[in-house]
Amino acid sequence: MEIYLDNSATTKPYKEVVDKVVYALTEQYGNPSSVHRRGVIVEKEIRNVRKEIAKVLGVNEKEIVFTSGGTEANNIIIRGIAYANRRSGNHIITTNIEHPSVLNTFKDLEKEGYEVTYLNVDKNGVIDFEEFKNAINENTILVSIMHVNNEVGSIQPVDKIGNYLNKFKRKIYFHIDAVQSFGKIDFKPSRYNVDLLSVSGHKIHGPKGVGFIYIKEKTKIKPFLTGGGQEYDFRSGTENVPGILGLGEAVRITSSNLKENIEKINNMKSLLLKEISDNINDIKLNSPQDGVCHILNVSFKGIKGEILLHYLEEDNIYVSTGSACSSKKKGSHVLIAMGLKPEEIEGAIRFSLSHTNTEQEIKLAVDILKKRIYDLRKIINKR
Ligand SMILES: Cc1ncc(COP(=O)(O)O)c(C=O)c1O
Repeated sequence: MEIYLDNSATTKPYKEVVDKVVYALTEQYGNPSSVHRRGVIVEKEIRNVRKEIAKVLGVNEKEIVFTSGGTEANNIIIRGIAYANRRSGNHIITTNIEHPSVLNTFKDLEKEGYEVTYLNVDKNGVIDFEEFKNAINENTILVSIMHVNNEVGSIQPVDKIGNYLNKFKRKIYFHIDAVQSFGKIDFKPSRYNVDLLSVSGHKIHGPKGVGFIYIKEKTKIKPFLTGGGQEYDFRSGTENVPGILGLGEAVRITSSNLKENIEKINNMKSLLLKEISDNINDIKLNSPQDGVCHILNVSFKGIKGEILLHYLEEDNIYVSTGSACSSKKKGSHVLIAMGLKPEEIEGAIRFSLSHTNTEQEIKLAVDILKKRIYDLRKIINKR
């Protein structure tokens, strides 16, 4: 039996998604820009997905643009806003726990003369609202803040931030990276006064290499890819039809069962935490109590997370030491920012759940985890 608890890294596509991708590849192979029937049918299929996503978010279909995933979505938005609004200012606000697709984009922009404020987070991985307010100046053009952190699951006060920014006469754009929150928190962009939002398909049981952004009407943003004028002239290039249709299925299924799934995942997270706390000593919970439903980050004293991960892999249990993108590098920038000690960072494991996991899997995983940690600690203590 395989127990997959790395759903923040990626998720297994739904069968309906796979079927839709195969359907697109085998039957709907036309180019959506072609004016003959083969193209028109595909164009309509893509439009239906756009409409579906727009309906779920309560926005206009013209405000949805397909991308190659979360990384591209974040790049398009941040660079597009920075370049198009350079005359209004060069200052941007973000946090120091963003995904690398945001942090490294800002590092690039800094080299081009933009000034970036990286907000600190507290021990729960949450920014200080006063620090955020004080960071705003007359040159601020963009605030880009992740909704849910991918390593610990902390939720930023995006409602308060959006409402605050909305009061300014001068336009300050507000972007949220919603890659880890879409499908895990029930929200619409209007609730947070968000202008821009990024989502990735493979985190919601959709295909990899596809995602979308929401861009509020009238947003001043520089087009990313120039060419044939697809995606409202914003991102040229022949559309990833199989990916987009598969994404549509994933969004449809995710949104139709959202409340039940969130509750189910939350219950499983509570069970996981209880089982770990009841059965294993010397642990430190790194995720905040009020974090997102699907992420639980825990440090096991004296244990190296990476070794534990490979031990668990032998039992067909899949977890992560941090985010999939940064887990190969030394030390998590998120756990460092939260003030964890080096040995706590080294001993951290991220469990990330999906509604497709079961209580039985959770209990079995903790049973095995307990044995593995017991063995590892015995070896360490013998040294
Ligand atoms: C918060 C966050 N933003 C962006 C991304 C990048 O998304 P993608 O893998 O689709 O490029 C990820 C992926 O782990 C993420 O967790």
